[in-house]
Amino acid sequence: MEEIILNTNTHKSVIHCGNGTFEKYAVTCGGDFVITDSNVYNIYHGLIEKTFRGAAVKVIRAGEKSKNRRTLLSVLQAMVSAGLKRSGTVVALGGGVVGDIAGLAASLYMRGVRLVQIPTTLLSQVDSSVGGKTAIDFKKIKNLIGSFYQPEQVIVDPLFLKTLPEREINCGLGEIIKYGALNKDIYEKLINAPDLRNSEFLENITADCIRHKAGVVTVDEHDLNGARKTLNLGHTTGHAFELFYGGKSHGEYVLIGAYYELFIAKKLGLCNEEYAQTITDLITSVIGELPVYNNVCKAAGFAVYDKKNQSDLISLIAPKDVGESIEIKLSVADYMKLVEECNNSLKDKYENS
Ligand code: NAD
Ligand code: GLY
Repeated sequence: MEEIILNTNTHKSVIHCGNGTFEKYAVTCGGDFVITDSNVYNIYHGLIEKTFRGAAVKVIRAGEKSKNRRTLLSVLQAMVSAGLKRSGTVVALGGGVVGDIAGLAASLYMRGVRLVQIPTTLLSQVDSSVGGKTAIDFKKIKNLIGSFYQPEQVIVDPLFLKTLPEREINCGLGEIIKYGALNKDIYEKLINAPDLRNSEFLENITADCIRHKAGVVTVDEHDLNGARKTLNLGHTTGHAFELFYGGKSHGEYVLIGAYYELFIAKKLGLCNEEYAQTITDLITSVIGELPVYNNVCKAAGFAVYDKKNQSDLISLIAPKDVGESIEIKLSVADYMKLVEECNNSLKDKYENS
């Protein structure tokens, strides 16, 4: 068990990591309103009821489609019906979807009630439960409406990963590889790991990723000075494809986005070739062959909605060298041309193999 403290100018978040943290901290966190999703509730309703005795439980439908204003309002309505007080504590028990909606609802209800994040997917354990970003999607744009709202505690217990489908492990590995592209120690652990899916390895690397993220959020909680932007590596293209094509998990799109943005960095002579190959190998070790897309320029067009963009340029965070990333700013036309080139290079590769 390990404790990581994330201190911002105004808040302190305590992150408890490791086996046994749920049993030790969930009962005492004072949860009186638990938000979870239908899949997690089906598996863990006994544990939820035993741990949070007497708490109201709101179950939302599982999946990204729930990250909308209707679900948000239904959560707020349930808080009112449960008589949740301003001194109350909301517990988000689920993956990133539950965490993002519950966090937003907790930040809005009575202008803010205490929040505890209990992430149950690998992605939410390594990334989304930490750092206080909350959101819903709106007008087909991902995370358009949201707030920064730090959880008081985050309880990261690998216990929940035992029931996670393999595809969701791959999804979490997407964000873990992103951290590998940002942090030298994580990179070295990833390239030397005999098995990325080994549970002990995942428990250790999760704490490493959280430590990296906590360090970044400490210096740039509100995404203003460029430090936090690096956590969006691969996300410009990943989010654009996720919106346009759907059908894959967020983490898989992060990996696809990282592949495209690596290609662009290489093309522009901004990334060390040997390093690019190791990151590419990590990406394909998790998602296998990358898909070849139809209408890829149209999909790339969704990058204009990315929150990192300033003026008319598309902003990408791409890997540069071990432990280093680089922001690339491109006109929409140049970005689309390079995305198309990357897609064509994949097509050629498969046709010639
Ligand atoms: P998710 O919440 O949809 O969970 C994935 C699936 O796993 C769902 O079907 C869920 O019901 C199921 N599940 C959850 N826990 C389980 C368990 N223990 N056993 C079995 N099944 C379980 O998806 P996610 O990948 O956790 O999160 C993705 C979301 O996170 C996206 O909306 C993304 O935008 C957001 N995100 C937010 C941040 C942030 O900083 N706030 C960072 C990264 C991603
Ligand atoms: N997941 C990116 C961030 O929290 O800033």
